[in-house]
Amino acid sequence: MMDRSLALFCFFLISAMFAAPSNGLLPEDKSKIRGMFVFGSSVVDNGNNNFIPDVLNKVNYTPYGIDFPLGPTGRATNGANMADILAKELKLPNYIPPFNDPSTAGNRIVHGVNYGSGGSGILDETGANLGNLISMNRQIRNFEAKTLPELALQLGHNRSRILSQYLFFLSSGGNDYSANYFGNSTGSNVTVEAFTANLTSTFILQLKKLYSLGARKFVLASIIPNGCAPMAMASAPGEGCVDRINKAVQMFNIQMRNLTDSLRPQMPGSRLVFVNAYKIVRDIIRYPAINGFQNVNTSCCTIAAHGFGCASGGPVCSNRREYVYFDGNHVTEAVNNAIATKAFSSNRTAEVYPYNVRKLSQI
Ligand SMILES: *[C@@H]1O[C@H](CO)[C@@H](O)[C@H](O)[C@H]1NC(C)=O
Ligand SMILES: *[C@@H]1O[C@H](CO)[C@@H](O)[C@H](O)[C@H]1NC(C)=O
Ligand SMILES: *[C@@H]1O[C@H](CO)[C@@H](O)[C@H](O)[C@H]1NC(C)=O
Ligand SMILES: *[C@@H]1O[C@H](CO)[C@@H](O)[C@H](O)[C@H]1NC(C)=O
Ligand SMILES: *[C@@H]1O[C@H](CO)[C@@H](O)[C@H](O)[C@H]1NC(C)=O
Ligand SMILES: *[C@@H]1O[C@H](CO)[C@@H](O)[C@H](O)[C@H]1NC(C)=O
Ligand SMILES: *[C@@H]1O[C@H](CO)[C@@H](O)[C@H](O)[C@H]1NC(C)=O
Repeated sequence: MMDRSLALFCFFLISAMFAAPSNGLLPEDKSKIRGMFVFGSSVVDNGNNNFIPDVLNKVNYTPYGIDFPLGPTGRATNGANMADILAKELKLPNYIPPFNDPSTAGNRIVHGVNYGSGGSGILDETGANLGNLISMNRQIRNFEAKTLPELALQLGHNRSRILSQYLFFLSSGGNDYSANYFGNSTGSNVTVEAFTANLTSTFILQLKKLYSLGARKFVLASIIPNGCAPMAMASAPGEGCVDRINKAVQMFNIQMRNLTDSLRPQMPGSRLVFVNAYKIVRDIIRYPAINGFQNVNTSCCTIAAHGFGCASGGPVCSNRREYVYFDGNHVTEAVNNAIATKAFSSNRTAEVYPYNVRKLSQI
């Protein structure tokens, strides 16, 4: 039996939790986030490449989207991507629309816009051989030139007040290594240290640019272990995960984590959260069974002869929940789900640093 005074105490505690705050502010445990702006590569692209005529690596056909309510949309996986799942955790209404879709205008932008472009990188030249992809710098220019003025018109407040209520989610860099540094014989005569230093400096300039436009809350997702992707492993049969690729991306990831501390004094009022997607995916690959996975090293779909992705209309595995990779480079919705839910609510600083996105959304 519960002691009467304890019951009374609990009653008041619960009442206090549900009582409307008298000062009109949101209660401390509620998200203050109005929307999310998403920047990056195929890990977040939700349809932008579909609108670019000359792009070679479009993923606008089945079996992509086989588990997605809207079918093939340009998401490079079977279902939702990281940004979709994070938006859902934040309880944002609907899907965040792709920038390149002409209907992404008016009040459709008030919960954010997704600028991601599959194949693109932090560096402008990354993926240039695949067509007129939208590099990180161009994604930021799209935000500045088109979205910002329109958002001010929609919301009617001043910029700094509006933008502090949005998350800026950035997830790029994988292609700068896989497609540019390791995939480009002319570029690979710089050392990986020099390349990484340049990539990091470029990324810092991009974050500072967003800050100068009014962005305050950043979520930075690390590169996943690209060396463990079926496509990378096929280039070095029998080796397992390709160590030199994983070591290289980790070099950048460590710098990225460091930025969450080192940039704050240079960007007063900013908050940066680092999501260690590398560790989350590496742990799944190391211990698949305890995470509910069975297949860590072959793609779920059948790869097209040209090698960019799944064969159009081709066979696909039925137990997609048990696969880490959907195609030769991209993880399944199940893995995206693991990354995004940990980003939102993990309490382990090895996974989210210095704290999780839920906390970031409440500050
Ligand atoms: C915009 O809002 C911020 C934060 O509320 C305030 O400090 C600033 O003075 C405002 N600027 C203008 C031009 O109204
Ligand atoms: C290779 O690197 C060079 C120099 O950075 C760049 O100009 C070129 O576009 C890259 N090629 C590809 C295929 O990415
Ligand atoms: C790599 O080396 C070649 C030949 O020495 C040179 O032409 C090219 O500019 C170098 N590329 C870079 C990115 O340094
Ligand atoms: C990165 O390297 C390129 C090519 O050498 C150079 O043009 C650019 O300024 C560098 N970027 C940064 C931020 O150091
Ligand atoms: C982290 O950033 C600080 C400040 O910029 C720098 O002194 C330190 O060397 C960096 N650490 C790593 C591991 O890069
Ligand atoms: C994939 O993983 C399985 C089980 O861990 C292993 O037996 C197999 O050799 C691996 N295949 C490749 C191509 O690495
Ligand atoms: C993290 O900590 C918070 C507050 O203590 C708790 O409510 C939440 O359930 C924890 N999250 C996980 C994934 O354990």
